Amino acid sequence: MHVTNASSESDARRKNLLLVGAHGVIGRAMTEHFVGLEPWSLTTAARRGAVTGLDVRGGTPPSALSVDLLDPRAATARLAEARSTTHLVYAAYVERPTMAETVAPNVAMLANTLDGLAQAGAPLEHVVLVGGGKSYGEHLGPYKTPAKESDPRFLGPIFYNDQEDLLLDRAAKYGFKWTVLRPDAVIGFSVQSPMNLLMSIAVYAAISKDAGVPLRFPGKHGTWSALHQITDAGLFARAAEWALTSPAAAGQIFNVTNGDLFRWQHLWPEIAAFFDMPAAPPQPMSLVDQMADKEPRWNQLVARHGLVPTPWSQVASWGFADAVFGMEFDLVQSTIKIRKAGFHGAEDSHESVLAHLARLRREKYIP
Ligand SMILES: NC(=O)c1ccc[n+]([C@@H]2O[C@H](COP(=O)([O-])OP(=O)(O)OC[C@H]3O[C@@H](n4cnc5c(N)ncnc54)[C@H](OP(=O)(O)O)[C@@H]3O)[C@@H](O)[C@H]2O)c1
Repeated sequence: MHVTNASSESDARRKNLLLVGAHGVIGRAMTEHFVGLEPWSLTTAARRGAVTGLDVRGGTPPSALSVDLLDPRAATARLAEARSTTHLVYAAYVERPTMAETVAPNVAMLANTLDGLAQAGAPLEHVVLVGGGKSYGEHLGPYKTPAKESDPRFLGPIFYNDQEDLLLDRAAKYGFKWTVLRPDAVIGFSVQSPMNLLMSIAVYAAISKDAGVPLRFPGKHGTWSALHQITDAGLFARAAEWALTSPAAAGQIFNVTNGDLFRWQHLWPEIAAFFDMPAAPPQPMSLVDQMADKEPRWNQLVARHGLVPTPWSQVASWGFADAVFGMEFDLVQSTIKIRKAGFHGAEDSHESVLAHLARLRREKYIP
């Protein structure tokens, strides 16, 4: 009898988290964070099945739903299996060639997720939607800094605006709480991500070293000395846990960055030292162009160092790296709002980059 009561109490406290976009640079870190963490029971969703190669500290691997969220029928059918979902983190993303083309599919995937869960009768309590710094127009050029959540919207097209509108509409319709978290460039591991700065830096460095050239900063001269910011993927996962459970986070948008700022001119020599190679000052170049003929060299590195074989087409995001390294202006989002609301997580950006590089090497993704 006593056991039954205890177990029904723990069932009542149990939070069933559905993490959509679990293979992404954000999703992988989120999966590692929530596996084995009480009182969470995690289910992941993406087109690919279970996320492999996770550091889950002995926790039970999560259940995995393989679902194409662009297909509303398939989404409804598969999400019926997630009918016990109480909490949702939405970190899926699909890339298209232009910002305008990115809106419809990304809004549709979020709509299919929320409507599918509602049709399944899921007792959804709180949804965290991952937004980003493009809400401030940072991808277009110098913007008002520090950027605050209360700043007027950027005209767009930007799918974050449309996703936020949809989220608020469905929250009112279905009766769940919501939070939007806006990271900037997220530092973590993933493959096949259109936005992964860390892997691009790591692969560029490994290839430069193999070619016997110094680690030249491939960005513009202004980028070298501007103030930049990043978001550690693990920190972001902790912020999401806080948002899902804190009354102060309900109905709010928060910037989430490491809380410090850095300049590439200071970080770059530390990255070069990690690879045991000399650093060199800016030589503006397009990594899309420069890396176009480097696949054979990468494949040789994989074979010579016994690396996890990652296809060249999936290993890095050269276009995203070009965009970040082309930002010759300050990137500064204010994090005062989330700190005042009660999330005090912070990371040293230099330490974050070096720790993630060390993990990539330890797990044999890079030499
Ligand atoms: N990465 C960054 O630096 C960064 C910075 C700021 C904001 N953000 C924002 O954070 C969000 C997540 O970005 P991310 O970089 O983590 O994305 P990502 O690495 O590209 O991951 C996207 C995830 O979505 C899943 N997905 C894609 N199409 C799908 C579909 N049709 N059905 C189901 N799942 C699908 C992918 O898995 P499958 O391929 O297996 O389906 C993957 O798990 C986006 O809104 C992005 O704009 C990212």
